[in-house]
Amino acid sequence: MNTETKYLGLELKSPIVVGSCGLTADVDKMVQMEQAGAGAVVVKSVFEEQIIHDIKRNTHMVAPTDSYGDSYEYIAQHVADDSLERHFNMMREAKRRLSIPVIGSINCFSYENWLTYAQKFQETGCDALELNMAILPYETTLSSDDVERTYNQIINTLRKSVTIPISIKVGTYFTDMAKQMQQLSWMGIQGVTMFNKNVEVDIDIENETLKNATTLSNPEDIYKTLRWVAILSKKMRCDLSASTGVYTSADVVKMLLAGATTVQVVSCLYKNGIDTLRELNDGLKVWMERKGYDKLSDFRGKLSVMPTDKASVAMRTQFMKYFAEIV
Ligand SMILES: Cc1cc2nc3c(=O)[nH]c(=O)nc-3n(C[C@H](O)[C@H](O)[C@H](O)COP(=O)(O)O)c2cc1C
Repeated sequence: MNTETKYLGLELKSPIVVGSCGLTADVDKMVQMEQAGAGAVVVKSVFEEQIIHDIKRNTHMVAPTDSYGDSYEYIAQHVADDSLERHFNMMREAKRRLSIPVIGSINCFSYENWLTYAQKFQETGCDALELNMAILPYETTLSSDDVERTYNQIINTLRKSVTIPISIKVGTYFTDMAKQMQQLSWMGIQGVTMFNKNVEVDIDIENETLKNATTLSNPEDIYKTLRWVAILSKKMRCDLSASTGVYTSADVVKMLLAGATTVQVVSCLYKNGIDTLRELNDGLKVWMERKGYDKLSDFRGKLSVMPTDKASVAMRTQFMKYFAEIV
């Protein structure tokens, strides 16, 4: 049973990739992930503010810290001055000790001179770069055109700065999701990761303060990603990595049937341990064997919306089948 796949132009033994998280900031854990069958790992993200802090400390470049407000101050106070250097060393060590692809990650939201550090990520030897573009539409002054412009500026500059493959990780805040994702895939990037899961904000009613809700996903969170992967996978000009809510090998199969190139897992490893990767890979192979499939391309995208089909019609038909029993 062959579960090899090509992702971002890289050869992977398995389509199951460990997504960026705290576990992928630790090289020993990443080695464990490789041994348990991960196809690749996406390293814990560096925040744009961390890079700006480093620029401010180390170079004569003007770092625009005013525009970052409290988020910059938080980083400046809570992150060790050599945090970035240590991160790069960790990535170099990961490259030395792992044979699977190691994908660097940056969490960014603005078109600023943090982009000058993209080269430094490439110099660690990482195989690709995933940008978690956390542009959130919280400002009443921000239009979707502004958001689109920022995406374009960042991607165009990044493409000129590095030669390694680029993947863009997105959230779900797009009014015109299908159009935006397709346009992203036309920008010369190698992949789109759908979706990042925001840390939800909760309220502590005793202390009357804001607090973070749980950061881990639940199995039912898979459906949003599944829907969009099915709608878009055949309409994109780059790879699609499915993220959020993947817990079982059946979930991996579903994402592949919907057309995902790779499937990312995070919360399931936090909840059930890194060895779960073994179960996911074994379960995928057992299913393929039972179905008579030799390789992923035999069934990948079998249930995605065809390029010439209207997704709205396909989804509406599905809706009618369920609710009105018309068909
Ligand atoms: C503890 C934790 C830390 C995370 N850190 C990052 C990060 O640094 N960068 C990033 O792009 N995503 C990060 N994520 C988001 C995950 O990569 C993933 O997109 C999200 O958890 C949804 O996938 P899941 O349902 O498999 O958990 C983090 C998630 C968790 C739970």
